[in-house]
Amino acid sequence: MTDIVYLNGDLVAKDSAKISVLDRGFLFADGVYEVIPVYNSTPFRLKQHLSRLNACLMQLDIANPHSAIEWKNIIATLIQRNGGGHLAIYLQVTRGVSKERNHLLDANMTPTVLLMASKLTVAEQNIQSITATLLNDIRWLHCDIKSIALLGNIMLSNKARQSGHDEAILHRDGLVTEGAASNVFMVKHRELFTPPQNQLILGGITRDVIIELAEASGLKVHQQDIHIDQLLSADEVWISSSAREISPIRQIDDKIIGSGIIGPVASVLHSEFQAFKKTLIN
Ligand code: PDD
Repeated sequence: MTDIVYLNGDLVAKDSAKISVLDRGFLFADGVYEVIPVYNSTPFRLKQHLSRLNACLMQLDIANPHSAIEWKNIIATLIQRNGGGHLAIYLQVTRGVSKERNHLLDANMTPTVLLMASKLTVAEQNIQSITATLLNDIRWLHCDIKSIALLGNIMLSNKARQSGHDEAILHRDGLVTEGAASNVFMVKHRELFTPPQNQLILGGITRDVIIELAEASGLKVHQQDIHIDQLLSADEVWISSSAREISPIRQIDDKIIGSGIIGPVASVLHSEFQAFKKTLIN
């Protein structure tokens, strides 16, 4: 029962929600999005998701159409109308509908706001390991913007799937950036490493939670460049995202990572993440 979507102030059935063909999101992928996990009907880290949304809108010079309290109310209504429980809220803001297709912007456009809900299956699963493939990061140089223009990510995700893997781990000139839809962590000698937050990666909300939990439990965390050789010889590797939480990688292409089973650091952080979720601090 996740059939009700929010579109520009209205709650409508998914099948009957419509946008203009002149919406710049449709024509140019001119917009940004968020995926917000909801546990037991409560959004997780909503403040941080809304703050990243605001930062991305500012980078594109799109006025944020809602205040934090308005977003909160819209999301609460959508959760309730979609039956609550564990959900992923997809939130998209595009620049809006232009008069004609033109790269240049019209003045005073009204952003188009769409929110949808889907079941968050990971919330009910035990920790599971997955496999990944290393691919060249073919995307643009502003991966810090959570843009709805995801052609690069789509091509890479599907290339991974076609070669029998669950995720693509991307690199530029041998340095790991992130997953096609996730951030990347590795453990070596019980210290945690993750690529630095810059324009080449999305600053993941889950990434931040993991860093906080790791530091709180006394682990040393290094946000620094990781060469693919270091990744392949790590004791543990995992990816993180709102949709996948912490997903350990047991194999990257032909290389077994560590002992090929879920490592102790991933296990502990996963348990801590589950406990932290239950506190539902927004
Ligand atoms: N993607 N990097 C990329 C390229 C991503 O697409 C995502 C998440 C992340 C992790 O961010 P967060 O922890 O805030 O979810 C990193 C979402 C889930 C998606 O596109 O569906």
